[in-house]
Amino acid sequence: MELTLEQVELWAKQAGLILKQGFGKQHEIGFKTASDLVTEVDRQAEAFLIGQILQHFPNHSIVGEENGTIMGDQTACWYIDPVDGTTNYAHGLPYFCVSLGFADEAGSKFGVIYDPMADECFSAERGKGAFLNGCPISVSGVDDLKRSLLVTGYAHNEPEKLDRNNELFIKLNARGQALRRMGSAALNLANVAAGRFDAYWELVIKPWDIGAGLLIVREAGGIVSGSDGSQDELLKPPCSIVAAAPGVYEAVLEAIQ
Ligand code: IPD
Ligand code: CA
Ligand code: CA
Repeated sequence: MELTLEQVELWAKQAGLILKQGFGKQHEIGFKTASDLVTEVDRQAEAFLIGQILQHFPNHSIVGEENGTIMGDQTACWYIDPVDGTTNYAHGLPYFCVSLGFADEAGSKFGVIYDPMADECFSAERGKGAFLNGCPISVSGVDDLKRSLLVTGYAHNEPEKLDRNNELFIKLNARGQALRRMGSAALNLANVAAGRFDAYWELVIKPWDIGAGLLIVREAGGIVSGSDGSQDELLKPPCSIVAAAPGVYEAVLEAIQ
């Protein structure tokens, strides 16, 4: 089978249907840490995606949130977050998605983020642009931080970063037009790509959170880097991310450094 963007979109949508069917129902909640939830739907959706990928590409590597890493061909690697926004999902709040990225020897090649409740499929293929339900999208043209709608994310149980995150929240809240903390890193990236948010940053993030979104933002004309400004090897832990419209990227980076 030849891997195409349409195929990656199809798998993300099929996994999204699993999320949609389980939405609002009673869940078996597990706790990976005191505040890091996992539901049976996270596991079912990831198992579905791993099953599809390995059935067609048994040699590929997979970095998934719930099942860990499956080591295969290092130049063909998938990044799976079956439910990005699990806390929202478990509380019945419809801001979550499936995030599915693929990287080859040249880096990120396909990225798909599917929001099953809004039926919005954000996607990108390297060098071919970014799309929302098949229509081209681009980041916003804003060039003034004061006019920017910003978004960030952080866990309250990362003691070494909590003070810094709180400090940055107060600082950027004052410098932008408004600042949100929505609870899904991948959807935040998708919404930067679509020009709805102007910038997003997160100081501690995982490869599966950003493995699809970083390509979608770049293909939509945005700038993506680590919180230190480096633009390479963003999927190599420890990860952090800044993703922004070019007109405000420098101002956001300067503010968080
Ligand atoms: C989390 C969400 C959240 C972000 C965390 C992620 P999960 O992913 O994306 O917005 O702040 O860093 O871990 O646990 O819902 O898949
Ligand atoms: Ca996640
Ligand atoms: Ca997840």
